Amino acid sequence: MLEKTYLADANKRASGPYNFADYLKQYQFSIEKPAEFWAEQAQALAWYKPWDTVLSGDLVQANVRWFEGALLNVCFNCVDRHLVNSANETAIIWQGNEFEQVKYFTYAQLHEQICRLANVLLSKGISKGDRVCIYLPMIPEAIISMLACARIGAVHTVVFAGFSAESLQSRIQDTQCKLVITADEAVRGNKSVPLKLNVDLALKNCSSVTTVLVIAKMGAEINGQHEWEVDYRAAIADADINCPCVVMAAEDPLFILYTSGSTGKPKGVLHTTAGYLLYTTVTFKQVFDYRLNEIYWCTADVGWITGHSYMVYGPLANRATILIYEGIPTYPDVSRCWQIIDQHKVNIFYTAPTLIRMLMRSGNEPVQQTKRSSLRLLGTVGEPINPEVWEWYYQVVGAEHCPVIDTWWQTETGGFMLTAFAEVTSLKPGYAGLPFFGVKPALVDNAGKLLMGENSGNLVMAQSWPGQMRTVYGDHQRYIDTYLTQFPGYYYTGDGALRDAQGFFCITGRVDDVINTAGHRIGTAEIESALVSNSQMAEAAVVGYNHPLKGQGICAFVIPKQGVIVDEALKETLLKEVVQHIGAIAKPDIIYFVNNLPKTRSGKIMRRILRKIVEGGAIKDLGDLSTLAEPDIIKELLALR
Ligand code: WTA
Repeated sequence: MLEKTYLADANKRASGPYNFADYLKQYQFSIEKPAEFWAEQAQALAWYKPWDTVLSGDLVQANVRWFEGALLNVCFNCVDRHLVNSANETAIIWQGNEFEQVKYFTYAQLHEQICRLANVLLSKGISKGDRVCIYLPMIPEAIISMLACARIGAVHTVVFAGFSAESLQSRIQDTQCKLVITADEAVRGNKSVPLKLNVDLALKNCSSVTTVLVIAKMGAEINGQHEWEVDYRAAIADADINCPCVVMAAEDPLFILYTSGSTGKPKGVLHTTAGYLLYTTVTFKQVFDYRLNEIYWCTADVGWITGHSYMVYGPLANRATILIYEGIPTYPDVSRCWQIIDQHKVNIFYTAPTLIRMLMRSGNEPVQQTKRSSLRLLGTVGEPINPEVWEWYYQVVGAEHCPVIDTWWQTETGGFMLTAFAEVTSLKPGYAGLPFFGVKPALVDNAGKLLMGENSGNLVMAQSWPGQMRTVYGDHQRYIDTYLTQFPGYYYTGDGALRDAQGFFCITGRVDDVINTAGHRIGTAEIESALVSNSQMAEAAVVGYNHPLKGQGICAFVIPKQGVIVDEALKETLLKEVVQHIGAIAKPDIIYFVNNLPKTRSGKIMRRILRKIVEGGAIKDLGDLSTLAEPDIIKELLALR
């Protein structure tokens, strides 16, 4: 790895922490006196009633609670409170697939749309605590829907529009949603995705849903094909423009977002009101040093946590102007992102390494034909960024004057955990950086022994932070088993990391059976169960492998049942199976048909061997093979390449 460091220029900083010494001092305070630190930070929000206790409970008992006794509303904080001075400032710039498709929403207009929709939700019988599913493309209504739920205390669960009808169904069933908000179609590049059709399929087995609000994006008539169907636009046109915010308790649920883990079905990660909002608000402001009136563009989809924390909640609570883009980065050509930056004078661009790698492959010319002079800061999230890619982002995209802020965090953490701070900490390509305030990372070995100093191991957190998930929806034991049991007293991240002599962290990737492909998290178990749901398959093992563009590619080893003819058509069938059960993002890049899998004598699949096989490792690289039940399998596997 290149060991280059870019020094911070504290003169460029607009708000605290003002320099590195300031960071160190505040960090120390935040770790030693978390309750005092977070009580001070809580001034960033508007509260109806202050808290009685800042922090109670702990990681051992899995009962952490922040700001108990306090009352507030998330929508009020993200919208209403800005109306006093900034009603006519732009809240959202929506850029559609085509250049001329642009819409602006001021904070006042956003407020009106939210109130109208909140009234529609109320009229459909939705009230505090009810779950609402949002299955929408990147259109302003996605944000309006989230905030309308927050306004009346309904708990939203956003499902990424790329997920299949089956995935949508299992999420609706798990949360027992009463209402779904969707659109007739999503448009991405030259493709259209039939969202409404997927909802119809999903609802064949979801008795909890009583209303589906459909946005007629493509102009199709919503004429109540089913009795639960309602035309979104017609309904909000008739709705009242006033709707009071429901007063919420600090620990009332705000949303549920599904994410993949090592085993079983995706988990419904539950975030609550006060801690989550405070954490996203403060991290957004301090890490990016956000300045009022700056245009901020986060390329994440609203269906992922980044689209929640750093497209909607954190930025809007800071009264930011956010840009959202419905299309794809390569439409009509690979310079589209940079053109959008010029067109809308974007100051902060926050994206994933997979996109940077893809655009980097097209060379410098498509970037350099644009100006990008408005850019002040570049951010990255979702997967490790290779130092060469970091350098290209810094030098070519940012023309060497924008700090590249690598932010490490997870759906479960709610917000940034390990990160650079703009113009405060020095930048080390490939390193996510230092802990945010109140975050106490540690490294442990597999036996749970704490590793000190320059070292590498399993990344854990030794202390709670306000943005921490509170439970797995409907299954608190699963929350305890997944995150808090492996290393008692610590929150377990599932990531490996190394720490250098200065305390900077470099994330080395997942150490569990989760694949991070093109910035998306998929569990190997989910893909395996989709593959074996095909009646011709006996068994499947899926592993991630190094992929030049996607970070990790997906490779499946499948054992067909006796007598099944193995051909290209079978491969196609299996790919379709994965698309149907999960969605196109989970499609394997490689499928190998095999007669056997490497297993231990107790029957556990030895995935590390499979990973090495796909990555082209020699026999000597395969590690200890002595526990293999049938050593001959290695010959068969090596012959695959
Ligand atoms: C990975 C996305 C390296 C990591 C916000 C983590 C990263 C998983 C980074 C969470 C980063 C995220 N550097 N790896 N800056 N950011 N990851 O839940 O493996 O979709 O555990 O949240 O992405 O993915 P999730």
